[in-house]
Amino acid sequence: MNGQGLNTAVSMTAVSTPEPRPLVGRLPGYSRSASAGTVRWVASSNESWMPPSPAAREAMADIVHRANRYPSLAGDRLVAALAERLGLSATQVAVGAGSLAMLGQILNAYAGPGDEVLYAWRSYEAYPILATLAGAECVEVPLDAAHRHDIGAMAAAVTDRTRVVLLCNPNNPTGTVLDVGEIRSFLDAVPGRVLVVLDEAYLEFSGGSGNTLQLLQDYPNLAILRTFSKAYGLAAVRAGYLLAHGDIVRSIRAVAPPFGLSAVAEAGAVAALADAEYLRGTVDAVLAERAFLQHELTARGYRVPPSGGNFLWIPEADVRAADIERSCAAHGVSVRAFAGSGVRVSIAPREASLAVLAALDTIGRQPGPAQTTPTTPQNYSTGGAS
Ligand SMILES: Cc1ncc(COP(=O)(O)O)c(C=O)c1O
Repeated sequence: MNGQGLNTAVSMTAVSTPEPRPLVGRLPGYSRSASAGTVRWVASSNESWMPPSPAAREAMADIVHRANRYPSLAGDRLVAALAERLGLSATQVAVGAGSLAMLGQILNAYAGPGDEVLYAWRSYEAYPILATLAGAECVEVPLDAAHRHDIGAMAAAVTDRTRVVLLCNPNNPTGTVLDVGEIRSFLDAVPGRVLVVLDEAYLEFSGGSGNTLQLLQDYPNLAILRTFSKAYGLAAVRAGYLLAHGDIVRSIRAVAPPFGLSAVAEAGAVAALADAEYLRGTVDAVLAERAFLQHELTARGYRVPPSGGNFLWIPEADVRAADIERSCAAHGVSVRAFAGSGVRVSIAPREASLAVLAALDTIGRQPGPAQTTPTTPQNYSTGGAS
């Protein structure tokens, strides 16, 4: 760096930079486990431990030779493949760079200042971030004693200002599942002007949750979000999709940035979707390992709720979350502690499960603080997404 460049750098530290919108300072962080990346097994981000299908890898490798060209505006090839696979019209399908990006688009399109976004808590930590970013107010309804969505309390918490309700099914991080009948009764209980978003990121691991696609016919205020990040093992390339009434899809397309789905992600997702054998194999592997770990944890006295995801939840009443996270890291595996709530362990290979069990055995079962579950909906202000 020459003398002039150095002077510029020094003087830049002294000037004040433009202020972002005030809500930027209020956004809770989206955190990753501190130890992720340094441990031997990562069980903290609900990723697949298996690489994507060979067909998907080949398709992605092939497309890079044409990386000089923009992808289609709206991921037309993946939209067509999903519509055909799911028996929907292409007008009912939108795709994007992960379901998280699409959730941001939904909230930006449907909720803003003065509106309320309602969801269960604890649930996916991105919800308060994205709802706050949209300028809306977050209303959190505590999970019930079984760590499930309290559908009755959620329906009762809908107000004239509620614009969007988020149902995370299976719920991250507790793994609990609503069946299709419960979702239907919730949809019956809320006014049609409220958009209900069913986040099915872990659908493939939930087996028994029933076919929610049939609900799209009866409820034009329903939007279903799914992803290629989990069961398909494509988290790094970012591909997700939305299924909804054509009017909702049109609104999402209007707010989505053009070229939102990269050509690499589209090629990988289209190929992955066609590889049913791969999907069966990976889901079976996760379910087998989940059953093993659940059995071992239960045998040790942990009250782990039945999970429909690729993870298990150890409630805080049973553990001191931070101690578990530390002990697991010392045994070579990262897990996710949510202070005051519990620990989420993503399903990983058998060695990782054994390392988690060894970590738990090392510290023993140490009940955490008594749970202070609030009984009324919380209006969210800051913090909470640890
Ligand atoms: C409930 C839930 N929804 C959405 C996502 C994000 O998925 P994607 O990778 O498609 O953005 C996650 C990721 O952990 C999740 O847990």
